[in-house]
Order: sequence, then structure tokens, then C-alpha cells
Amino acid sequence: MGRLEGRRAVITGASSGIGEATAVAMAHEGAAVVLGARRKDRLDELVARIESEGGTAIAIEADISDEEQARGLVETASAELGGLDCLVNNAGVMLLGPLQGADPQEWRRMIAVNLLGLLYCTHYSLPLIRDGGGGDIVNVASVAGRTASLGSGVYNMTKWGVVGFSESLRQEGAHIGVRVTCVEPGFVDTELQGHNDNPIVVEQIEKMRESTGKVLEAADIANAVVYAVGQPKHVSINEVLVRPAGQTR
Ligand SMILES: NC(=O)c1ccc[n+]([C@@H]2O[C@H](COP(=O)([O-])OP(=O)(O)OC[C@H]3O[C@@H](n4cnc5c(N)ncnc54)[C@H](OP(=O)(O)O)[C@@H]3O)[C@@H](O)[C@H]2O)c1
Repeated sequence: MGRLEGRRAVITGASSGIGEATAVAMAHEGAAVVLGARRKDRLDELVARIESEGGTAIAIEADISDEEQARGLVETASAELGGLDCLVNNAGVMLLGPLQGADPQEWRRMIAVNLLGLLYCTHYSLPLIRDGGGGDIVNVASVAGRTASLGSGVYNMTKWGVVGFSESLRQEGAHIGVRVTCVEPGFVDTELQGHNDNPIVVEQIEKMRESTGKVLEAADIANAVVYAVGQPKHVSINEVLVRPAGQTR
């Protein structure tokens, strides 16, 4: 029997990277998973993969920066699964570069997804998890929520926000049976870095990859999520900071 048998989870940003790997890992451990993201074709492929391995998964197209879509994701998930006891707030965008000359539209995108999207999903999930007898909220922040760097200011700002918000939410959740975990990955090999087209940023990312050596795989972070939510009820894993062994900052 899997460690998450009987659990019902929503995972945002499940169409690639860490969210996809987390969906696979949680389903493998017996959880029924609802996959949220904008790329429905990718979600449908993942549902087929999870089902072919004997798991239960449902795909819901949602742009979580839109409050109504975030609400629809969470409430439809709960209705389809007959309740909800886990939310993995994973969806995120990282658009790097100096502040001078930056396009404020990129700042708005990061704030809309990394902060507001996470808040909307949390807001609509919290009462459902509480009223169903408790459970888990996992927020995927970043090493960038602890260590700031030149060229990462607004991304740092959003992830710092997720770290601070997670601790406040943890204290509130402690009264209502909702555990909160903040997962802070270092460099993970996903599509995240590929959304940057500024040549200086691309070069910096490649330099960091080279100096780090072997970077993390999405499954390494999925393992951390499963570890946290699979604990006995009286144990709360508050923070998990996972870097590649060769990452210095
Ligand atoms: N990779 C790293 O090195 C690293 C390090 C630290 C933290 N993280 C964090 O890990 C999380 C996952 O990132 P990843 O590395 O797995 O990158 P990724 O492969 O680019 O995945 C990002 C996910 O977020 C979803 N997403 C983006 N905008 C969205 C929106 N408006 N509504 C709904 N979903 C949206 C994307 O799906 P659609 O495009 O289909 O909507 C995708 O599934 C992010 O929060 C990221 O900040 C990553």
C-alpha cells in the first residue's frame, strides 16, 4: 500500500517540471490527483500516463492568475474527488534580468502567478481541507526566497513572499488541522529557465549550471513533497530546502 493511499490532491503547474513529477510521485503512492495548468494537452497526456500505471488523475485547464479559474480548479477538483486534503501550490514563472530596462509586464506575470495565483488557490482550498478533517498545503518557493541575486529582484520578491506567507499560514493552519510545508528547490532541470530570452540572463543561467555540476531532477523535489505530506498526522515538515550538492548559493 502506498504512503498516500486515500489522499486527494490538487497540484498546480502540473503540465511540466516539478508539478508533473510531483503528480506522478503522489499518484504512485496512491493519491488521487487533480492536475491544473494552462496547457491542457500536456495535462491530458499526463493523465493517460498516470492511469496506465494504475493511478487516478483528472486534468483541469486553469490559469491560476485569474481568480475565478483558480477557484474553479480547486472547487471542481474537490467535487470530482469527493473532497480535498492536499494542495500543492507549485505553478510559477521566473523571468530574470536587471531592473533597469525591464518590461513591467514580466513583473506583473510573476506576481500574478507566483503570489496571487498561490493565494487564490490557498484561499479556496483552505476551507475545503479544514472541513474535510484537515490535510496539507505545500508551497513551492525557492532558494531565491532566501538568497537574493542581481538580476533576480522581482523573482526574489515573489519567492520571499511565499516563504513569509507559508509561515503565517502554518500558524493559522495549526489550529484547524492543516499542515503547511514550504519546499525551496535549488537549480532543477525543468522548462523554467527556458522562458528567459535575454542573452545575458541565458549566459548567466548556463554558467551557473556549469559551475553546479549535476543539477536536481524534478523527481528529487517530488520526493521531498511526498516525504512531507506522507508524515503521520502529528508531524509537520515546515520547510525543505533542497540544493544540488554542487550549488554554492
Ligand atoms: N526549476 C528550478 O530550478 C526551480 C528552482 C526553485 C523553484 N522552482 C519553482 O518550482 C515551481 C515549478 O517550476 P518548474 O521548475 O517545474 O518549471 P516549469 O517546468 O516551467 O513549470 C511551471 C509550471 O507552472 C505552470 N504555470 C505557469 N503559469 C501558470 C498560470 N498562469 N496558471 C497555471 N499554471 C501556470 C506551467 O504550466 P502552463 O504553462 O501549462 O500553464 C508549468 O506547469 C515554480 O514555482 C518555480 O518557481 C523551480
